[in-house]
This record gives sequence, C-alpha cells and structure tokens, in this order.
Amino acid sequence: MALLRNYGELFPERRIIIDAAFSSFGKSDHGSKVSRRSRRFGRIINKHRLLRWIFLLLALFSIFLTIYGLKNFVQAKIESKFSTPLDLPVERNLQEDSFSENVEKPPKSKRRKHFPCEVGLLQSVDGLVEPKNYMNFTWFSLDYVDREEKTMENNLFEPRFGGHPTLEERENSFYAKNQTIHCGFVKGPPGYPSTGFDLDEKDRAYMSSCKVAVSSCIFGSSDFLRRPTSRLISQYSKDNVCFVMFLDDQTLSKLSSEGNPPDERGYIGLWKVVVVENLPYEDMRRTGKVPKFLSHRLFPNSRYSIWLDSKMRLNSDPMLIIEYFLWRRKAEYAISNHYDRHSVWEEVLQNKRLNKYNHTAIDEQFKFYESDGLPKFEPSNHNPLPSYVPEGSFIVRAHTPMSNLFSCLWFNEVDRFTSRDQLSFAYTYLKLRRMNPDRPLQLYMFKDCERRALVKLFRHRAVPSPPGTA
Ligand SMILES: *[C@@H]1O[C@H](CO)[C@@H](O)[C@H](O)[C@H]1NC(C)=O
Ligand SMILES: *[C@@H]1O[C@H](CO)[C@@H](O)[C@H](O)[C@H]1NC(C)=O
Ligand SMILES: *[C@@H]1O[C@H](CO)[C@@H](O)[C@H](O)[C@H]1NC(C)=O
Repeated sequence: MALLRNYGELFPERRIIIDAAFSSFGKSDHGSKVSRRSRRFGRIINKHRLLRWIFLLLALFSIFLTIYGLKNFVQAKIESKFSTPLDLPVERNLQEDSFSENVEKPPKSKRRKHFPCEVGLLQSVDGLVEPKNYMNFTWFSLDYVDREEKTMENNLFEPRFGGHPTLEERENSFYAKNQTIHCGFVKGPPGYPSTGFDLDEKDRAYMSSCKVAVSSCIFGSSDFLRRPTSRLISQYSKDNVCFVMFLDDQTLSKLSSEGNPPDERGYIGLWKVVVVENLPYEDMRRTGKVPKFLSHRLFPNSRYSIWLDSKMRLNSDPMLIIEYFLWRRKAEYAISNHYDRHSVWEEVLQNKRLNKYNHTAIDEQFKFYESDGLPKFEPSNHNPLPSYVPEGSFIVRAHTPMSNLFSCLWFNEVDRFTSRDQLSFAYTYLKLRRMNPDRPLQLYMFKDCERRALVKLFRHRAVPSPPGTA
C-alpha cells in the first residue's frame, strides 16, 4: 500500500508546483502590461518604479520556478518509467524492494526499505538427520493424469499441457484422498504434437536420481544467471543436493554469447543446466510456474525441494534451510509472507493498479473465487502474518502427498486463470483446508525478512514484457 500511496502523491505534488508557476506567470504577464501602460503615462512616480521592479522580480522568479518545476516533473516521469536501468552489466543489489517486475516504480527515495533479519540456521550440517516422526503427515496416494483421450465430437480438441479438467474434476481434486488429478504434463492422444516442456532423456534420468532438489528457471532471457554462493554451501549439500537451472534455448544462447556457457558436464557453477524445449505457454511467466510449482513432478523421487526465482542468489545451505523451515516447524510447505501486502484484496488492487495483468481476467477470477467462498478481508481482525499473500519467490517443501496436492491445485489455478500466483494462493489454500478439515496442510508462512537473509536479491534483466501479460 505504501507503494500506492507514494504513487498517488508523486504527481499531484508536482502539479501544484507547476500550477503555482503558471499562475504566477500569468500574473506577471498582466503585471508587465500594467507597467507598459504606466510608461505611456509619462511621469513616473517612485512608487511606480518600485512596483515595476517588484513585477520584474516576480516574472524572473516565476520563470525560474517554471523551468525548475518542469525539469523535476520530466525527471520524475523518466525515473518512474525507466527505474529498472536499461543496461545492467554489473549485478545490482536490491535491498529495498524486490517488486522488480514492476517497471513503473516511484523514484528510489520514496520506496520503502526492506531489510533481512536474523535466521537461526544451524551452524553446520554435521550430524543433521531428519527427525523421526517428521514425516507424520497425512498419507494418501496421488496419481496424475498422464494423457487425455477426448472424444473428438467437434474435431477442435487441442491438447494442452494443463489438460482440460472440468469444473467438477477441479472441485473433486481438492479432496485429500487417493485419486488421480490433473497436474501439468498432460499429453494429447497418440499422434498429437507434444504439449510442451520437453526434456532430454539424460536430464530426466538425472532428475529422477535427486533426493533433494534446488531449482530455478530463466525463460525468455528475463534474468542474469546467479550462481549459488559456493563457499556458503556445505560439501554435504554439494554432494547430495541437485541444483537444477531450467533454461530455454534462447536464454542458453544469450548466456553463452555473454561468455557464460555451461561447462562440458553441463554446469554453470553449481547449477546443472537443463534445457527445456517446446515451452508450453506463450507467456514466459506462466511457463515459469511449471518448474516453480511442479518440482515433485520434475524430481519424482525427491523428498524435498527448494525453489528460488532467478532474481535471487542462494546464499545459504539448502539442508540448513530444510532443517530450519520444515523439520524444526514440523511443516511440509514453507513460503514467505509478502513484505507489504497482507490481504489478497490489496493484492488484487495492486495488480490492477500496476497493470500487472488484464483487468477483466482478474475480475473473472475473483468473481469465481468469491462465489466459491473466498472470505472478504476484514481489517478488524487483521493479524498481519497469517494472511496468505505470499512472496512466492522462495518456496521450501517436503514432497508429502498433501504438499504435492497443494502444488498441483495451485498450478491448476494458474493454468485456468491468471498467471499471477499471489492471486490464487489464499483461495487455493483456504479451499484445501475447508474441504479437508481433519487433514490440514502443514503450512509455514515465514517472514519476508527471513527470505532476504537467505538469498541476495537482484533486479530482473530489463527486457520488453512478454506478450499476453497485460
Ligand atoms: C502423528 O500425528 C498424529 C496427529 O496428527 C499424532 O496423534 C501421532 O501421535 C503422531 N505420531 C507420532 C509417532 O508422532
Ligand atoms: C489409498 O492407497 C493406499 C496405497 O497407495 C492404500 O494402502 C490405501 O488403502 C488406499 N486408501 C483407500 C481409502 O483406498
Ligand atoms: C482480457 O481478458 C478477457 C477475459 O479473459 C479476454 O476476453 C480479453 O481478450 C483479454 N484482453 C486482452 C487485451 O488480452
């Protein structure tokens, strides 16, 4: 909200200065006419001369004000338009605000500062063992729709990566029970083209071998590649954790052309590069939700995974992160709260305000959610933390059935509605809880400042926004 307020303030302020300048300009114009007239009257009394000087001074002053005011105005406009610098050869730290997808940002001085805070990670991974009973979560067996065989009544059937779940199937999928649900990677009938996210068999085999996965992605060259800080990561994790960076061909060639190619084993630093062919969505952000949400599908044998957006560099040991956020809290899904916004309704307003997404699509999504019981935000019983607006750039999860179910459900919302995942998080979580009162997802929403302590934030690479996002 602070962002909104700053935004509203910026221009009215400038306008007042300019209005004042213009009105005084008008006055002085009138004033010079008066003085010309007084010259025609021949004899000048000292009082008149004094008045003339005053007018002259006023005119000069207003010209100065006009120029100064305009300059500031123009500068503010330029700053807000291009506050993401166009050339970013050096990595820039973004302490104060990670909302860097937002290009129209108020000038730096007005942004609220956000800082990291202390996170009580263990000192070392020595002697770290998964606690007994930690995996004492709800168990059921979850299967995934692999292929859709639609009866082609109208010959218009088009296979989709997310499949075509009906509203009834969607409703049933929220029950935590043995079942088969849609969860991406849905193939079409034989003979149809791939629905996308194609991987090399060798990469697939490698990913199947992972027990713990840290992953990230860059599609459409939207970011620079940030290697995890090697010296802060234990040898144990280097040996036992898979660090996988998903890239498309375009990003890979861009990185290579910038002198950052993978080595002969396919690594850039700790990152194992996995190239994704045939992206399932035109919108790169939506495509990015596949590895973000579906790590349990991509790493089918892993017990844990950590997701981080490519705008961040991992600065902490993944096993210590798992111990702190999952084991110690007895949680199966950990994600940080948003640093500013605590209500999904604020998030909706903000998304529209910053033109993050097609307004009609947002309205349709929320009309649907409200009709399905998404509670209206009540400021009166507002407890700032458990508010379910995530800053979803950092997710730590155990691949338990409940956690996997939630991931699939959240992905399905992003597939069906807008790709702004902060918008569907609260609804998905609350509905899952409502429909399984005796089988809660053990969710831990931690403080955003803790996220900031584990990673280093950078701005996105400045690129024109992909089509279809606005
Ligand atoms: C597992 O959790 C249930 C409650 O969810 C509890 O009653 C039970 O004692 C736990 N089992 C162990 C071994 O901790
Ligand atoms: C669910 O599946 C598991 C095995 O995957 C089985 O042991 C269990 O009995 C099933 N539960 C129900 C209610 O069918
Ligand atoms: C916005 O979304 C609506 C409904 O989903 C759609 O009909 C419309 O074409 C979209 N507009 C643009 C510009 O994408």
